Amino acid sequence: MADYEMIERAAQELSLASLDSNWQVLQTEDYVRQSAEFRRACDSLKKAAQEKNLDGAALAWVDVTLKCVQCHKYVRDAD
Ligand code: HEC
Repeated sequence: MADYEMIERAAQELSLASLDSNWQVLQTEDYVRQSAEFRRACDSLKKAAQEKNLDGAALAWVDVTLKCVQCHKYVRDAD
């Protein structure tokens, strides 16, 4: 839905969550990189919401969820 403020807030929270100490599960360069890519996707989402760009936000959200899956896959394989 086109609730841009909500999208913007959620994207910001996700981005900040990835900087929290609880997020730092693995101490590897790859994990840091996955986290940074995740943050970039969240920031794109936030930017699209600020610009009230619904297509951009939809696309950025797909990217965010892809990053969720990619990092989980990485964490699973790292075990
Ligand atoms: C940079 C890596 C990374 C990204 C990106 C990431 N996660 Fe995770 N996620 C983890 C790790 C690591 C765990 C396991 C944490 C643990 O075992 O303590 C986890 C666990 C979870 C869990 C299970 C929590 C539980 O208590 O069992 C959920 C749900 C989850 N993530 C959702 C998401 C969603 C939704 C996104 C994207 C919006 C996301 N994650 C993005 C690393 C990531």
